[in-house]
Amino acid sequence: MNFHPFPIQTSKRLFLRNIKASDAETIFFLRSDKTVNQFIKRPKHRQTKSIEDAFSFIEKQHKNIENNVSIVWGITLKNDPQLIGTICLWNFSENRDVAEVGYDLNPEFHNKGIMSEALNMIIDFGFKELKLHKIEAFTDCKNESSKRLLTKNGFHLNASRKDTDNASNLIFEIDNNLI
Ligand SMILES: CC(C)(COP(=O)(O)OP(=O)(O)OC[C@H]1O[C@@H](n2cnc3c(N)ncnc32)[C@H](O)[C@@H]1OP(=O)(O)O)[C@@H](O)C(=O)NCCC(=O)NCCS
Repeated sequence: MNFHPFPIQTSKRLFLRNIKASDAETIFFLRSDKTVNQFIKRPKHRQTKSIEDAFSFIEKQHKNIENNVSIVWGITLKNDPQLIGTICLWNFSENRDVAEVGYDLNPEFHNKGIMSEALNMIIDFGFKELKLHKIEAFTDCKNESSKRLLTKNGFHLNASRKDTDNASNLIFEIDNNLI
């Protein structure tokens, strides 16, 4: 498994690219805005409280991509390079056959089917290119948009699993039927 060259993804409306230092302001917004983060709990060391934190976050993501640890894509509309959200595959299992998906989107772009379009590309990439057996998503039980996004795109709730770090999280999974 390797993320070189960076696996750009395109769909009807979207262009998913590597994030860059000039995205710092948007990254700061996405990771600190109250609405976007309403249901997201991050440990202190993963919080983004300033533009400087956003720069560090971007740098860290680049290192993770370089070392094939995890990968984040910046979501843009095809006709506008401005970042509107992110989607990532991270928390890979030791044998690299399971990964967790994470995503956020500027509220101005909610309810347009944009994250569904992005998620579909990343599921496809995870299953076809990375040959993952399973993709997981941890989401707050009250995060209706996220739960709906997951279920309508093929994820199912695994009620027998609990997130020991966050009791209000539900764990959704999608299996690779191609394997
Ligand atoms: C979770 C989140 C990404 C979902 O975004 P979203 O825009 O609501 O998700 P979708 O892309 O599925 O779009 C939803 C709606 O767009 C509508 N829509 C409009 N135009 C559409 C089109 N061309 N194609 C498809 N759907 C379209 C659909 O009706 C859909 O509503 P439905 O699910 O009731 O059918 C967003 O709420 C978010 O960023 N939340 C904050 C971050 C967060 O909580 N992340 C998860 C952490 S675990």
